[in-house]
Amino acid sequence: MKDFIFESTPKIVFGAGSIAYLVRELNILKKKSAFFICDPVIEKTIFFNDLSGKLKKEGFIVNIFSEIVPDPDFDSCDMARDAIVAAGSDIVIGIGGGSAMDIAKVAAITAKNRKKAKDLVKNPELCEPGMPLVLIPTTAGTGSEVTHIGIFSDNDEKLKTGIVSPYLYADVAILDPEITVSMPETVTAHSGTDAIIHALEALTSKLATPFTDLLAEEALGILYRNILPAFEDGNNIEARSNMLYGSMLAGKAFANSSVAAIHAFAYPIGAEFHIPHGLANSIMLIPVLKFNLNSDIEKYCRAARAIGVQTTGLSEAEILNRLLFKLEFLLDRLKIKRSLGYYGVTESDIPRLALSVMKVTRLLSNNPGEVLLEDAERLYREAM
Ligand SMILES: [Fe+2]
Repeated sequence: MKDFIFESTPKIVFGAGSIAYLVRELNILKKKSAFFICDPVIEKTIFFNDLSGKLKKEGFIVNIFSEIVPDPDFDSCDMARDAIVAAGSDIVIGIGGGSAMDIAKVAAITAKNRKKAKDLVKNPELCEPGMPLVLIPTTAGTGSEVTHIGIFSDNDEKLKTGIVSPYLYADVAILDPEITVSMPETVTAHSGTDAIIHALEALTSKLATPFTDLLAEEALGILYRNILPAFEDGNNIEARSNMLYGSMLAGKAFANSSVAAIHAFAYPIGAEFHIPHGLANSIMLIPVLKFNLNSDIEKYCRAARAIGVQTTGLSEAEILNRLLFKLEFLLDRLKIKRSLGYYGVTESDIPRLALSVMKVTRLLSNNPGEVLLEDAERLYREAM
Protein backbone atom coordinates (compact mmCIF):
# COMPACT_ATOMS: atom_id res chain seq x y z
CA MET A 1 0.00 0.00 0.00
CA LYS A 2 1.29 3.43 -0.99
CA ASP A 3 1.85 5.86 1.92
CA PHE A 4 -0.30 8.97 1.83
CA ILE A 5 -1.56 12.02 3.66
CA PHE A 6 -5.18 12.96 3.00
CA GLU A 7 -6.43 16.44 3.85
CA SER A 8 -9.94 17.75 3.42
CA THR A 9 -12.55 20.29 4.37
CA PRO A 10 -13.73 19.23 7.83
CA LYS A 11 -17.46 19.77 7.34
CA ILE A 12 -19.77 19.37 4.36
CA VAL A 13 -23.46 20.21 4.47
CA PHE A 14 -25.11 18.70 1.38
CA GLY A 15 -28.67 18.66 0.10
CA ALA A 16 -31.51 20.53 -1.59
CA GLY A 17 -32.33 23.53 0.61
CA SER A 18 -29.16 23.15 2.70
CA ILE A 19 -28.37 26.87 2.30
CA ALA A 20 -30.81 27.30 5.20
CA TYR A 21 -28.13 25.78 7.43
CA LEU A 22 -25.86 28.81 7.01
CA VAL A 23 -27.34 30.53 10.09
CA ARG A 24 -26.78 27.40 12.15
CA GLU A 25 -23.17 27.13 10.96
CA LEU A 26 -22.45 30.79 11.76
CA ASN A 27 -23.85 30.25 15.25
CA ILE A 28 -21.73 27.12 15.76
CA LEU A 29 -18.64 29.10 14.70
CA LYS A 30 -19.85 31.93 16.99
CA LYS A 31 -19.54 34.59 14.28
CA LYS A 32 -21.73 37.64 13.95
CA SER A 33 -20.39 39.73 11.07
CA ALA A 34 -20.48 37.99 7.70
CA PHE A 35 -18.49 39.18 4.71
CA PHE A 36 -19.85 37.74 1.46
CA ILE A 37 -17.63 37.47 -1.58
CA CYS A 38 -19.94 36.63 -4.46
CA ASP A 39 -20.42 36.81 -8.21
CA PRO A 40 -22.27 39.98 -9.30
CA VAL A 41 -25.04 37.89 -10.86
CA ILE A 42 -25.53 36.03 -7.58
CA GLU A 43 -25.85 39.31 -5.63
CA LYS A 44 -28.86 40.21 -7.78
CA THR A 45 -30.70 36.90 -7.34
CA ILE A 46 -33.84 36.49 -5.26
CA PHE A 47 -32.21 33.63 -3.40
CA PHE A 48 -29.26 35.80 -2.28
CA ASN A 49 -31.58 38.65 -1.35
CA ASP A 50 -33.61 36.26 0.80
CA LEU A 51 -30.45 34.81 2.36
CA SER A 52 -28.92 38.15 3.34
CA GLY A 53 -32.33 39.38 4.54
CA LYS A 54 -32.69 36.32 6.76
CA LEU A 55 -29.22 36.82 8.23
CA LYS A 56 -29.92 40.47 9.03
CA LYS A 57 -33.22 39.48 10.65
CA GLU A 58 -31.31 37.04 12.85
CA GLY A 59 -29.02 39.87 14.02
CA PHE A 60 -26.00 39.28 11.76
CA ILE A 61 -24.09 42.12 10.13
CA VAL A 62 -23.83 41.54 6.37
CA ASN A 63 -21.24 43.06 4.04
CA ILE A 64 -20.93 42.15 0.37
CA PHE A 65 -18.08 42.34 -2.14
CA SER A 66 -19.19 41.41 -5.65
CA GLU A 67 -16.52 42.89 -7.90
CA ILE A 68 -15.64 39.46 -9.26
CA VAL A 69 -14.43 39.25 -12.83
CA PRO A 70 -13.76 36.08 -14.84
CA ASP A 71 -10.10 34.99 -14.66
CA PRO A 72 -9.43 37.06 -11.50
CA ASP A 73 -5.90 38.29 -10.83
CA PHE A 74 -4.03 38.97 -7.60
CA ASP A 75 -5.29 42.58 -7.54
CA SER A 76 -8.88 41.25 -7.31
CA CYS A 77 -7.87 39.35 -4.16
CA ASP A 78 -6.22 42.41 -2.65
CA MET A 79 -9.35 44.51 -3.31
CA ALA A 80 -11.45 41.91 -1.50
CA ARG A 81 -8.93 41.79 1.36
CA ASP A 82 -9.09 45.60 1.79
CA ALA A 83 -12.89 45.48 1.84
CA ILE A 84 -12.90 42.75 4.52
CA VAL A 85 -10.47 44.71 6.71
CA ALA A 86 -12.48 47.92 6.25
CA ALA A 87 -15.73 46.14 7.22
CA GLY A 88 -14.20 44.53 10.33
CA SER A 89 -16.07 41.28 9.64
CA ASP A 90 -15.30 38.08 11.56
CA ILE A 91 -16.12 35.44 8.90
CA VAL A 92 -15.76 35.23 5.12
CA ILE A 93 -18.39 33.49 2.98
CA GLY A 94 -17.49 32.77 -0.65
CA ILE A 95 -20.51 32.10 -2.83
CA GLY A 96 -20.35 31.59 -6.60
CA GLY A 97 -18.23 29.75 -9.12
CA GLY A 98 -14.52 29.04 -8.81
CA SER A 99 -13.47 32.70 -9.15
CA ALA A 100 -15.55 33.96 -6.22
CA MET A 101 -14.61 31.02 -3.99
CA ASP A 102 -10.90 31.26 -4.85
CA ILE A 103 -10.85 34.98 -4.05
CA ALA A 104 -12.68 34.30 -0.77
CA LYS A 105 -10.16 31.61 0.17
CA VAL A 106 -7.12 33.80 -0.42
CA ALA A 107 -8.66 37.02 0.96
CA ALA A 108 -9.59 35.19 4.20
CA ILE A 109 -5.86 34.53 4.70
CA THR A 110 -4.47 37.86 3.50
CA ALA A 111 -7.03 39.87 5.54
CA LYS A 112 -5.90 38.08 8.70
CA ASN A 113 -2.19 38.25 7.89
CA ARG A 114 -2.19 41.72 6.30
CA LYS A 115 -0.32 40.36 3.30
CA LYS A 116 -0.82 40.66 -0.45
CA ALA A 117 -2.08 37.72 -2.51
CA LYS A 118 1.15 37.58 -4.51
CA ASP A 119 3.09 37.09 -1.22
CA LEU A 120 1.26 33.77 -0.85
CA VAL A 121 2.47 32.53 -4.22
CA LYS A 122 6.05 32.93 -3.11
CA ASN A 123 5.75 31.90 0.52
CA PRO A 124 2.36 30.45 1.52
CA GLU A 125 3.91 28.92 4.64
CA LEU A 126 4.78 32.37 6.04
CA CYS A 127 1.12 33.01 6.86
CA GLU A 128 -0.96 32.10 9.89
CA PRO A 129 -4.33 30.36 9.37
CA GLY A 130 -6.86 32.76 7.86
CA MET A 131 -10.27 34.02 8.98
CA PRO A 132 -13.06 31.43 9.37
CA LEU A 133 -14.39 30.54 5.94
CA VAL A 134 -17.61 29.10 4.51
CA LEU A 135 -17.81 28.21 0.81
CA ILE A 136 -21.02 27.78 -1.17
CA PRO A 137 -20.69 26.71 -4.83
CA THR A 138 -23.30 27.89 -7.33
CA THR A 139 -21.88 25.78 -10.17
CA ALA A 140 -21.03 22.07 -10.22
CA GLY A 141 -17.50 21.78 -11.48
CA THR A 142 -14.56 23.51 -9.85
CA GLY A 143 -14.67 21.54 -6.60
CA SER A 144 -13.02 24.66 -5.15
CA GLU A 145 -15.27 24.40 -2.07
CA VAL A 146 -13.24 21.40 -0.90
CA THR A 147 -9.74 22.19 -2.21
CA HIS A 148 -6.77 24.09 -0.82
CA ILE A 149 -5.96 25.66 -4.19
CA GLY A 150 -6.79 29.07 -5.66
CA ILE A 151 -6.16 29.76 -9.35
CA PHE A 152 -5.40 33.29 -10.55
CA SER A 153 -4.27 35.04 -13.71
CA ASP A 154 -0.69 36.21 -13.44
CA ASN A 155 -0.80 39.18 -15.79
CA ASP A 156 3.01 39.53 -15.85
CA GLU A 157 3.55 35.91 -16.89
CA LYS A 158 0.37 35.64 -19.04
CA LEU A 159 -0.31 32.41 -17.20
CA LYS A 160 -2.63 31.05 -14.56
CA THR A 161 -0.93 30.46 -11.24
CA GLY A 162 -2.04 28.33 -8.34
CA ILE A 163 -1.78 29.39 -4.71
CA VAL A 164 -1.63 26.21 -2.65
CA SER A 165 -1.85 26.20 1.15
CA PRO A 166 -3.55 24.01 3.77
CA TYR A 167 -5.00 27.26 5.15
CA LEU A 168 -7.14 27.58 2.02
CA TYR A 169 -9.47 24.77 3.17
CA ALA A 170 -12.85 26.12 4.24
CA ASP A 171 -14.24 25.41 7.70
CA VAL A 172 -17.59 24.49 6.16
CA ALA A 173 -18.75 23.80 2.59
CA ILE A 174 -22.48 24.08 1.95
CA LEU A 175 -23.61 22.31 -1.24
CA ASP A 176 -27.16 23.08 -2.22
CA PRO A 177 -28.14 21.74 -5.66
CA GLU A 178 -31.19 24.01 -5.81
CA ILE A 179 -28.81 26.97 -6.20
CA THR A 180 -27.22 25.37 -9.27
CA VAL A 181 -30.55 25.05 -11.12
CA SER A 182 -30.16 28.59 -12.49
CA MET A 183 -26.86 27.70 -14.23
CA PRO A 184 -27.09 28.36 -17.99
CA GLU A 185 -26.58 25.47 -20.43
CA THR A 186 -23.02 26.47 -21.43
CA VAL A 187 -21.92 26.83 -17.80
CA THR A 188 -23.37 23.39 -17.05
CA ALA A 189 -21.36 21.96 -19.97
CA HIS A 190 -18.08 23.75 -19.21
CA SER A 191 -18.10 23.32 -15.43
CA GLY A 192 -19.31 19.71 -15.74
CA THR A 193 -16.51 18.73 -18.14
CA ASP A 194 -14.02 20.50 -15.84
CA ALA A 195 -15.20 18.21 -13.03
CA ILE A 196 -14.90 15.12 -15.25
CA ILE A 197 -11.34 16.14 -16.12
CA HIS A 198 -10.55 16.70 -12.41
CA ALA A 199 -11.63 13.11 -11.75
CA LEU A 200 -9.77 11.70 -14.77
CA GLU A 201 -6.54 13.56 -13.98
CA ALA A 202 -6.73 12.77 -10.24
CA LEU A 203 -7.11 9.07 -11.09
CA THR A 204 -4.14 9.01 -13.46
CA SER A 205 -1.80 11.52 -11.77
CA LYS A 206 1.54 10.25 -10.51
CA LEU A 207 0.46 11.43 -7.03
CA ALA A 208 -2.70 9.27 -6.98
CA THR A 209 -3.22 7.03 -3.95
CA PRO A 210 -5.72 4.21 -3.31
CA PHE A 211 -7.88 6.69 -1.39
CA THR A 212 -7.91 9.33 -4.15
CA ASP A 213 -8.54 6.57 -6.73
CA LEU A 214 -11.68 5.59 -4.81
CA LEU A 215 -12.98 9.16 -4.92
CA ALA A 216 -11.91 9.82 -8.51
CA GLU A 217 -13.46 6.64 -9.96
CA GLU A 218 -16.74 7.22 -8.14
CA ALA A 219 -16.75 10.87 -9.25
CA LEU A 220 -16.01 9.96 -12.87
CA GLY A 221 -18.95 7.54 -13.06
CA ILE A 222 -21.44 9.86 -11.36
CA LEU A 223 -20.41 12.88 -13.43
CA TYR A 224 -20.45 11.00 -16.75
CA ARG A 225 -23.92 9.56 -16.09
CA ASN A 226 -25.43 12.88 -15.00
CA ILE A 227 -23.87 15.61 -17.12
CA LEU A 228 -26.17 15.14 -20.13
CA PRO A 229 -29.39 14.92 -18.06
CA ALA A 230 -28.34 18.13 -16.24
CA PHE A 231 -27.38 19.82 -19.54
CA GLU A 232 -30.58 18.82 -21.32
CA ASP A 233 -32.90 19.73 -18.44
CA GLY A 234 -31.45 22.31 -16.05
CA ASN A 235 -34.37 21.77 -13.66
CA ASN A 236 -33.56 18.09 -13.21
CA ILE A 237 -32.74 18.37 -9.50
CA GLU A 238 -31.61 14.74 -9.25
CA ALA A 239 -29.02 15.27 -12.01
CA ARG A 240 -28.01 18.64 -10.50
CA SER A 241 -27.55 16.97 -7.08
CA ASN A 242 -25.43 14.22 -8.58
CA MET A 243 -23.28 16.70 -10.53
CA LEU A 244 -22.66 18.77 -7.38
CA TYR A 245 -21.85 15.62 -5.39
CA GLY A 246 -19.56 14.28 -8.15
CA SER A 247 -17.69 17.55 -8.54
CA MET A 248 -17.13 17.66 -4.77
CA LEU A 249 -15.75 14.09 -4.80
CA ALA A 250 -13.49 14.99 -7.73
CA GLY A 251 -12.34 18.10 -5.83
CA LYS A 252 -11.37 16.01 -2.82
CA ALA A 253 -9.53 13.60 -5.11
CA PHE A 254 -7.46 16.15 -7.03
CA ALA A 255 -6.73 18.25 -3.92
CA ASN A 256 -4.87 15.20 -2.60
CA SER A 257 -3.69 13.71 -5.89
CA SER A 258 -3.36 16.40 -8.55
CA VAL A 259 -4.58 17.52 -11.90
CA ALA A 260 -2.00 17.26 -14.65
CA ALA A 261 -1.25 18.07 -18.31
CA ILE A 262 -4.80 18.78 -19.50
CA HIS A 263 -5.05 21.57 -16.93
CA ALA A 264 -1.49 22.70 -17.65
CA PHE A 265 -2.31 23.09 -21.38
CA ALA A 266 -5.56 24.89 -20.54
CA TYR A 267 -3.84 27.59 -18.46
CA PRO A 268 -1.97 29.53 -21.21
CA ILE A 269 -4.97 29.55 -23.57
CA GLY A 270 -7.25 30.55 -20.69
CA ALA A 271 -4.98 33.38 -19.56
CA GLU A 272 -4.15 34.79 -23.00
CA PHE A 273 -7.33 34.14 -25.00
CA HIS A 274 -9.80 34.28 -22.09
CA ILE A 275 -11.24 30.90 -22.96
CA PRO A 276 -13.29 29.82 -19.90
CA HIS A 277 -11.48 27.25 -17.78
CA GLY A 278 -13.77 24.26 -18.37
CA LEU A 279 -13.94 24.96 -22.09
CA ALA A 280 -10.13 25.25 -22.32
CA ASN A 281 -9.84 21.88 -20.59
CA SER A 282 -12.41 20.35 -22.96
CA ILE A 283 -10.47 21.61 -25.99
CA MET A 284 -7.26 19.98 -24.73
CA LEU A 285 -8.86 16.79 -23.33
CA ILE A 286 -8.65 14.51 -26.38
CA PRO A 287 -5.17 15.55 -27.69
CA VAL A 288 -3.58 15.22 -24.22
CA LEU A 289 -5.46 12.02 -23.44
CA LYS A 290 -4.23 10.39 -26.68
CA PHE A 291 -0.69 11.44 -25.72
CA ASN A 292 -1.06 9.97 -22.20
CA LEU A 293 -2.93 6.70 -22.80
CA ASN A 294 0.09 4.41 -23.11
CA SER A 295 1.82 5.88 -20.07
CA ASP A 296 -0.61 4.26 -17.63
CA ILE A 297 -2.78 1.73 -19.46
CA GLU A 298 -4.14 0.14 -16.28
CA LYS A 299 -5.43 3.47 -14.92
CA TYR A 300 -6.99 4.55 -18.22
CA CYS A 301 -8.74 1.15 -18.46
CA ARG A 302 -10.14 1.81 -14.97
CA ALA A 303 -11.32 5.23 -16.19
CA ALA A 304 -13.04 3.52 -19.14
CA ARG A 305 -14.84 1.11 -16.80
CA ALA A 306 -15.85 4.02 -14.54
CA ILE A 307 -17.68 5.74 -17.42
CA GLY A 308 -19.47 2.55 -18.41
CA VAL A 309 -17.29 0.87 -21.04
CA GLN A 310 -18.12 -2.85 -21.01
CA THR A 311 -14.61 -4.29 -21.09
CA THR A 312 -15.23 -8.07 -21.06
CA GLY A 313 -13.46 -9.73 -23.99
CA LEU A 314 -11.86 -6.50 -25.19
CA SER A 315 -8.14 -5.92 -25.61
CA GLU A 316 -6.54 -3.00 -23.75
CA ALA A 317 -6.27 -1.10 -27.04
CA GLU A 318 -10.00 -1.57 -27.68
CA ILE A 319 -10.87 -0.43 -24.15
CA LEU A 320 -8.77 2.73 -24.54
CA ASN A 321 -10.36 3.43 -27.94
CA ARG A 322 -13.81 3.19 -26.37
CA LEU A 323 -12.74 5.59 -23.60
CA LEU A 324 -11.73 8.13 -26.25
CA PHE A 325 -14.88 7.53 -28.26
CA LYS A 326 -17.20 8.00 -25.26
CA LEU A 327 -15.48 11.22 -24.19
CA GLU A 328 -15.51 12.66 -27.74
CA PHE A 329 -19.16 11.70 -28.08
CA LEU A 330 -19.92 13.48 -24.80
CA LEU A 331 -18.13 16.70 -25.84
CA ASP A 332 -20.12 16.68 -29.11
CA ARG A 333 -23.44 16.15 -27.30
CA LEU A 334 -22.52 19.10 -25.05
CA LYS A 335 -22.05 21.21 -28.23
CA ILE A 336 -18.49 22.11 -27.27
CA LYS A 337 -16.49 23.52 -30.20
CA ARG A 338 -13.01 22.10 -29.75
CA SER A 339 -10.92 23.94 -32.31
CA LEU A 340 -8.44 26.45 -30.85
CA GLY A 341 -8.66 28.41 -34.11
CA TYR A 342 -12.35 29.05 -33.43
CA TYR A 343 -11.34 31.01 -30.31
CA GLY A 344 -8.77 33.18 -32.11
CA VAL A 345 -5.60 31.14 -31.62
CA THR A 346 -3.38 31.14 -34.73
CA GLU A 347 -0.49 28.94 -35.82
CA SER A 348 1.99 31.70 -34.92
CA ASP A 349 0.76 31.65 -31.29
CA ILE A 350 1.70 28.00 -30.78
CA PRO A 351 5.45 28.30 -30.04
CA ARG A 352 4.70 30.95 -27.39
CA LEU A 353 1.86 28.90 -25.84
CA ALA A 354 4.10 25.83 -25.78
CA LEU A 355 6.83 27.74 -23.94
CA SER A 356 4.20 28.91 -21.43
CA VAL A 357 2.85 25.44 -20.75
CA MET A 358 6.35 24.17 -20.01
CA LYS A 359 6.44 26.61 -17.05
CA VAL A 360 3.47 24.83 -15.42
CA THR A 361 5.81 22.35 -13.77
CA ARG A 362 3.53 22.07 -10.69
CA LEU A 363 1.11 20.08 -12.89
CA LEU A 364 3.27 18.67 -15.68
CA SER A 365 5.45 16.88 -13.13
CA ASN A 366 2.39 14.82 -12.08
CA ASN A 367 1.37 13.87 -15.61
CA PRO A 368 1.62 10.15 -16.44
CA GLY A 369 3.52 10.92 -19.66
CA GLU A 370 6.55 13.22 -19.79
CA VAL A 371 5.78 16.32 -21.87
CA LEU A 372 8.67 17.91 -23.81
CA LEU A 373 8.56 21.25 -25.61
CA GLU A 374 8.11 19.57 -29.01
CA ASP A 375 5.21 17.54 -27.57
CA ALA A 376 3.62 20.74 -26.28
CA GLU A 377 3.76 22.36 -29.73
CA ARG A 378 2.38 19.21 -31.37
CA LEU A 379 -0.53 18.90 -28.91
CA TYR A 380 -1.56 22.55 -29.37
CA ARG A 381 -1.38 21.99 -33.17
CA GLU A 382 -3.62 18.93 -32.82
CA ALA A 383 -6.14 21.12 -30.99
CA MET A 384 -6.20 23.70 -33.82
FE1 LIG B 1 -10.28 22.59 -13.33
